[in-house]
Amino acid sequence: MKLTQDQIDRFHETGYLMLPNLFSTEEADVLRQGAEEVYAMERKEVVRELDGVSPRTAFAAHCYHEAFRRLGRHPRLIEPVMQLVDGPVYMHQYKVNAKVAFDGAVWQWHQDYGTWSRDDLMPEARAMNIALFVDEATEFNGPLWIIPGSHREGVYEAGHDIETTSYPLWTLDKAKVSELAERGGIYSAKGDAGSVLMFHSNIVHASSPNLSPWGRTIVYLSLCHVENHIRRFKRPDWVAHRDFAPIEPLPDDCLLAPMTPFAEDGSGIQVAAE
Ligand code: SIN
Ligand code: MN
Repeated sequence: MKLTQDQIDRFHETGYLMLPNLFSTEEADVLRQGAEEVYAMERKEVVRELDGVSPRTAFAAHCYHEAFRRLGRHPRLIEPVMQLVDGPVYMHQYKVNAKVAFDGAVWQWHQDYGTWSRDDLMPEARAMNIALFVDEATEFNGPLWIIPGSHREGVYEAGHDIETTSYPLWTLDKAKVSELAERGGIYSAKGDAGSVLMFHSNIVHASSPNLSPWGRTIVYLSLCHVENHIRRFKRPDWVAHRDFAPIEPLPDDCLLAPMTPFAEDGSGIQVAAE
């Protein structure tokens, strides 16, 4: 799948691009089922909220669940990012973020490349997120908030917050967020299940807690140009991956092809059309 010049220009201008309904409801259903299966697993990669029960995020689900493995090689996600970073990409990080009904907690204001540069020594912001909405994201269930244009000035100063949630994050202070939001406003990324949001790795973003009775699962692929791979291996390899081989996209119908059990060597990937 290729972005148009207009979409590329809008991405560079604002730092994000929304692609509504890029995946069908049938494809989103496959992933919703997959997310339930993953959150039911007792694995170190499945991080819970501070209550110790509610799933917050499942890291590296492409390494242990077949549907998420296929999504990690999906051409509708991989190809637009290859276009924007201008070359082959590897998977730097993979998250299935839950934000469960009533108990899903905040993600504080931050920049992803702030973490990738400080913790992982990724050389440049030649990496980005592409997020697929597994559930509809509404004003109620803690949609992602983005400050348009906040990707243009590099990495801002940040403090390492290890207390607010169960997951440590380099977060921006209130004065900087206020200044940026005064300038750019805040975009609330709402959309149907199956919609896709691409955002620059320096964009300032956050999301509020989910007080609604509706869950909000989003899958984030953080893709990096292969030459821009991380130089420091401080975080676990299931948080910041070390397989820098270029991702070969699968056929477009891979999520709807018969789902085989996950196999370590990739032999479970059977697709209808090669
Ligand atoms: C993130 O910024 O990595 C996740 C935010 C969210 O899922 O709300
Ligand atoms: Mn983030």
